Amino acid sequence: MKIATDRAVDLKAAIGAALEAARERTLTLLAPVPEDDQIRQHSPLMSPLVWDLAHVGYFEERWLVQELGGVEPMDARYGDLYDAFLHPRSERPSLPLLRPAEARSYVDTVRERTLSVLDGVELDPANPLLAHGFVYGMVIQHEHQHVETMLATLQLRRDGVYDPLVEAAQPRRGAPPARSEVFVEGGPFFLGTDDEPWAYDNERPAHEVEVSAFWIDAAPVTNEAYLEFVAAGGYADRHAWSEPGWAWREEAGLEHPEFWEREGEGAWSRVRFGRREALRPDEPVQHVCWYEADAYARWAGKRLPTEAEWEKAASSSPDGRKPRYPWGDEPPGPAVANLGGALLGPAEAGGYPDGASAYGCEQMIGDVWEWTASDFRAYPRFKAFPYREYSEVFFGEDYKVLRGGSWATHPVAVRTTFRNWDFPIRRQIFAGFRCARDAE
Ligand code: AVJ
Ligand code: FE
Repeated sequence: MKIATDRAVDLKAAIGAALEAARERTLTLLAPVPEDDQIRQHSPLMSPLVWDLAHVGYFEERWLVQELGGVEPMDARYGDLYDAFLHPRSERPSLPLLRPAEARSYVDTVRERTLSVLDGVELDPANPLLAHGFVYGMVIQHEHQHVETMLATLQLRRDGVYDPLVEAAQPRRGAPPARSEVFVEGGPFFLGTDDEPWAYDNERPAHEVEVSAFWIDAAPVTNEAYLEFVAAGGYADRHAWSEPGWAWREEAGLEHPEFWEREGEGAWSRVRFGRREALRPDEPVQHVCWYEADAYARWAGKRLPTEAEWEKAASSSPDGRKPRYPWGDEPPGPAVANLGGALLGPAEAGGYPDGASAYGCEQMIGDVWEWTASDFRAYPRFKAFPYREYSEVFFGEDYKVLRGGSWATHPVAVRTTFRNWDFPIRRQIFAGFRCARDAE
């Protein structure tokens, strides 16, 4: 009895701390951004930053105050302004949005109410919304996901350098893994999870899939490797591209990853948060769309891994156990993965040998999201929970799955079963890839 009570208190304290940490991260990110730049739209693909901020508060109010506290919305207008489905991103700057100071005060007020509801709520293990604090985990992950989105917006900002409040640390250097590919034997594998308390509906349920033996790269594809494809004329090589990929390459005029610029024969720079820097050869390539990743893989005589292959290589061990993370069950820390945004970029390939999976795959978690070959589809026996608009409305052929999180992803918002998705043409996300191939 006593133990159960103490556990509930511990869980509430952990939830309170995680809510606080998410908010601290949001406000620290926005603090150096002038208010005009929070209001303006930097790309039609992205919301004004102040929309993200108020939307984070609106989502929190919806679930942690209205739903759990059984109260009416604070302001009926917000349901229209800050619902992600009512207005496409391109329309959002013309809406009567809260000003930055108003948005900050709105999210503060919501937070006070959230904490007072949390104080009185019973985290009833029989209620799926509350068991293990699920709905709190959902809101905490949501805020961190929007911080990553806001970082992508800041990267797209054409004019002006983004200088974080806390100076970015130097990304880790490392020697690329000794073996460039690892072998994963064939056999059944349990894809997805039933046990992760804060897993989203789309990660559930765990179900057995048959995976044939395959080889997979031990590290993400680096700028140096990708440059070989560029230098060899890969962007003009029709045979390297799928049909829709080639059509998009032509329409969009793709010639290299986004934010790269040619400086002369064989020399390249890239713009990162408004600063032009020399391209670092050993960093994972970033800002490629799925079509580019697919074309590179074909050109290299390989292919993208399916998400089942990716998850098996990341989380299965030859003895059949499935740890939470590639390195084991311990939570992510700076010795095993580059997460949370502190470095403002990926670390070099080989920077985290201690984060390797049992099969020897490195940097599966953190650094860059990895495009997979798979469409974003429901797992068998999927049940939308707690609302259809998180995952279900996106299932189908339009979106490709990305795995593993990026340097901008917070540790609570990623695990080996976590599924992200985007259109195959998108490049503003912090995405790269690794290749796989069939074993003979
Ligand atoms: C999982 C990153 C595709 O940003 O559209 C944020 C996350 N869902 N608010 C997105 C999300 C609702 C989602 N992704
Ligand atoms: Fe959202």
